[in-house]
Amino acid sequence: MTQATRVIPLSRPYLDEREAKEVLAVLRSRHLSLGSYVPRFEGMFADRVGAPYAAAVSSGTAGLHVACRIAGIGAGDEVITSPYSFVASANCFMYEGATPVFADIDPRTFNLDPAAVEAAITEKTRAIVPVDIFGYPCELDELLAIADRHGLAFIEDSCEALGAEYKGKRLGSHRHMAVFAFYPNKQMTTAEGGVVTTGSAEELELLVSLRNQGRADTDGWLDHSRFGFNYRLSDVHAAIGIAQLEKLDELLAMRASAAARYRELLADVDGVSTLLDDDADHKRSWFVYVVKLASGIDRDRVIRALDDQGIQSRPYLPCIHLQQYMRERYGFKEWMFPVAEETSRKTMALPFYSGIDPEDQERVVDALRNAIA
Ligand SMILES: Cc1ncc(COP(=O)(O)O)c(C=O)c1O
Repeated sequence: MTQATRVIPLSRPYLDEREAKEVLAVLRSRHLSLGSYVPRFEGMFADRVGAPYAAAVSSGTAGLHVACRIAGIGAGDEVITSPYSFVASANCFMYEGATPVFADIDPRTFNLDPAAVEAAITEKTRAIVPVDIFGYPCELDELLAIADRHGLAFIEDSCEALGAEYKGKRLGSHRHMAVFAFYPNKQMTTAEGGVVTTGSAEELELLVSLRNQGRADTDGWLDHSRFGFNYRLSDVHAAIGIAQLEKLDELLAMRASAAARYRELLADVDGVSTLLDDDADHKRSWFVYVVKLASGIDRDRVIRALDDQGIQSRPYLPCIHLQQYMRERYGFKEWMFPVAEETSRKTMALPFYSGIDPEDQERVVDALRNAIA
C-alpha cells in the first residue's frame, strides 16, 4: 500500500453534533448513570420498533444472557442456535451452563433452516435462539410454531437487525424477547449497548431488576431480592442512542442506498454473488455488505489484494462451532453443518457504513474485480 492511499474502513459510525450535544448535557447534569436518559432512550426505542416494552442493557451479549436467565435456561439443557453467527448467540446460554446444539442454515437466507431445527430437538431441548443474520429476518412463523409445539423458550437474536421487518411487522414487536445491539458497526450505535424488547410486563420487571444487580423497584438502598448482574447502560451511552434514534430512518435509508449501489456495481463481476433480496415476508435492514465468492476463488488472497490497496475487508463469518474453545469443549468438527461451513468459507464483508462515499464503493468493486480476474 502506498503512503498516499486513503484507507476505506470496513465500518464506521455516523455521528454529528447531536450526539456531542446530548452527551455533553448528560455530563453537565452529573447524572451519568441511573438518570433520566436511559428511560427516555428505552421509550423511544420501544416506539420505534413497536414493542410494548424495552429494557436497555450494557451490550447485546448482556441482553441475550439476561434473557436466557429469565427463560430459565440452565445446566443440563440444550439450546438450538445457528452455527453461522457471532459467538454471543451461543455463549449467552453457555454462561448458564446449557449445551449448544447447532442446526444448519438455509443456503438462501443464511438463517436457521426450520427443518434442521426440528430435527435437532431432543428431550433435553429447552430453547431456540434464532438469529436474524446480516439483518435478514429469520423464519419466525415456522420457528415459533416449532417452539410452541415442543414447549420451548424463544429468544430472538436481532442484534444485527434493527429496522428489519417480518411479514410487515418490525422485529422487536413480536412479543417474545428480542435482543438488539449497538456496537459502532451496527445500524445505530451507543458505543457499547443493547436493548431487550418484550411484550411481557413480568419479563420487563425481571430485565430491569437483573440488569441492576437483582434489585427490585421495591427494594431499599443496597437490598437485593435476586441474584443479578451489572448490565446497566449508562446515561452517557443512552444519550448517544437518543441522538442516533432521532436519525435512524436516515441511517437506514443511507445504508439501503449504499447496498443498492454495491449491487449495481457488482452485477457484472463474475464469481461474486450478493445477499438475498427482500420478498413479501422479509425486509432486510442493512448491517454489513457480505458477498459470496464462487468456488475456486481464493478468498484470503482477495482480502490481501484489497488490503494492499487500503481497502479493509474480512472473512465473514467464521462458524461458531469451529472456534477453538467450541471444538475443545464439545468436540465439534468440520462438516457437521455443511451449508453453514460452505457459506462461511466463501463469504466476506466489504467496507460498508452509513454515508459511505459512492466513489469509494467504485474503488472497492474495481479492486475486487481485479483481484478475482
Ligand atoms: C448476531 C449477533 N449476536 C450478538 C451480538 C453481540 O452484541 P454485543 O457485541 O453488543 O455484545 C452481535 C454483535 O456483535 C451479533 O452480531
